[in-house]
Amino acid sequence: MPIREILTYPDPFLKRVAKPVTEFGPALDELIADMADTMWDEPGIGLAATQIGVDLQLFVYDLEVSRDHERVGVVCNPKFTLMEGEESDEEGCLSVPGYTAAVKRSARVVMEARDRSGNPIKVDATGLLARMFQHETDHLNGILFIERLSPLKRGMFIRRFKKLQARGDA
Ligand code: NI
Repeated sequence: MPIREILTYPDPFLKRVAKPVTEFGPALDELIADMADTMWDEPGIGLAATQIGVDLQLFVYDLEVSRDHERVGVVCNPKFTLMEGEESDEEGCLSVPGYTAAVKRSARVVMEARDRSGNPIKVDATGLLARMFQHETDHLNGILFIERLSPLKRGMFIRRFKKLQARGDA
């Protein structure tokens, strides 16, 4: 399956609020396979459709980087019905290469969504799984993790990015 190009900050497409998935079937399965291969190629543990320029509420994940299409997690149209607690941990993003920072997230979430066939799913998650769900769902709402940082840290990121850009490294 073809590896897709991952859009990076500050591409305006990453600010888009994605449209719900309404058509489940072979075309969606093909897109999911491409997204999984693109995620593993980096490798990353999650990838949202908007990161490859596809306007759909869809993300794939694989915390173990199994490179096994049978094991890849698929989430369409996610919604959180419970978010509780708070935890800060280091995050990175394939759309913000070369940068990580501690981000505050809910420690536990209950996510309701659709699977690749359109069937309803409900997942109760903590730890890295809960963090990844929140990070990827943010992508589908046009939010990058750098927007979750304090104004001070975000300012530091932007200055660093501009410096790299001026040197031709970004
Ligand atoms: Ni990301």
